[in-house]
Amino acid sequence: MNLIDKINRLKKEKNAIILAHYYQDSEIQDIADYVGDSLGLSQKAAETDADIIVFAGVHFMAETAKILNPTKTVVLPDLEAGCSLAESCPPKEFKTFINKHPNHTVVTYVNCSAEVKALTDIVCTSSNALKIIESIPKETPIIFAPDRNLGKYLIKETGRDMLLWDGSCIVHEAFSIDKLIELHKQYPDYKIIAHPESEEHILKTATYIGSTAGMINYVKKHSDQKFIVATEAGILHKMQQEVPNTELIPAPAKEDNTCACSECAYMKVNTLQKLYDCLLNEHPQINVSENIRTKALAPIERMLELSK
Ligand code: 13P
Ligand code: SF4
Repeated sequence: MNLIDKINRLKKEKNAIILAHYYQDSEIQDIADYVGDSLGLSQKAAETDADIIVFAGVHFMAETAKILNPTKTVVLPDLEAGCSLAESCPPKEFKTFINKHPNHTVVTYVNCSAEVKALTDIVCTSSNALKIIESIPKETPIIFAPDRNLGKYLIKETGRDMLLWDGSCIVHEAFSIDKLIELHKQYPDYKIIAHPESEEHILKTATYIGSTAGMINYVKKHSDQKFIVATEAGILHKMQQEVPNTELIPAPAKEDNTCACSECAYMKVNTLQKLYDCLLNEHPQINVSENIRTKALAPIERMLELSK
């Protein structure tokens, strides 16, 4: 029996669900029950009746699923699947920062640890960040963490004056504006679409800015056009399946002379073999202390409520 058949058999036996992010390897996306962006994945995790959630994504995503499902088993194929954004915001320092700025509403991007979520008023993802910020009364000052690029984009779009935490995503900051402009000169009829974790100069070139799911929907709606895609290259798999006749080029990275694309090394530590192993052994599991979990749950539930 091959690995895919073994995973599917085990999944049925154990009443498990496989949730995968668009940045996972194609073979993982193809075996998943649901592939989505951070918001879609938390919504799926909130509504599933499976006993085991196999989270093919990174740690903060699996942790969010566990916060929403304390009685279910949540496994991650590799505990090394972290995130530079989540790491850029240590809870202790963040608490000190919040204490220095009382009376601010604290909004955090879902790419952060459970401890940071526990210090938060409302969580957001790139799909709903504008809506979440706009739900906060105009006179209320806001702290936004951890992504400075998404934060700057939100300030520009909403006109709100927000205090930003200085974190970033190594993948989205790896795009080269010079190479992108050069590429666009070669392919002037291609539209640039970008994820808001990208730097401002990249976003300025984009016809559309949105979450991974937003980018896929945009391309589906404009399938008569061609695109240069500025986000992690794993998205091209699902995007190309959705629009088989559309031409897609990954945006070029600064240091990359080999494949001209950006890949998230954290996402890519997960493999099909590790996915099988974690389902078989129900290990490594994600656990969150009950004290942190209940504090982190409230801002996630606020986000889910506002995203309906
Ligand atoms: P979304 O899937 O919410 O667009 O986020 C992208 C990302 O960087 C996930 O880590
Ligand atoms: Fe984190 Fe960036 Fe990787 Fe997403 S792409 S998991 S934000 S490092």
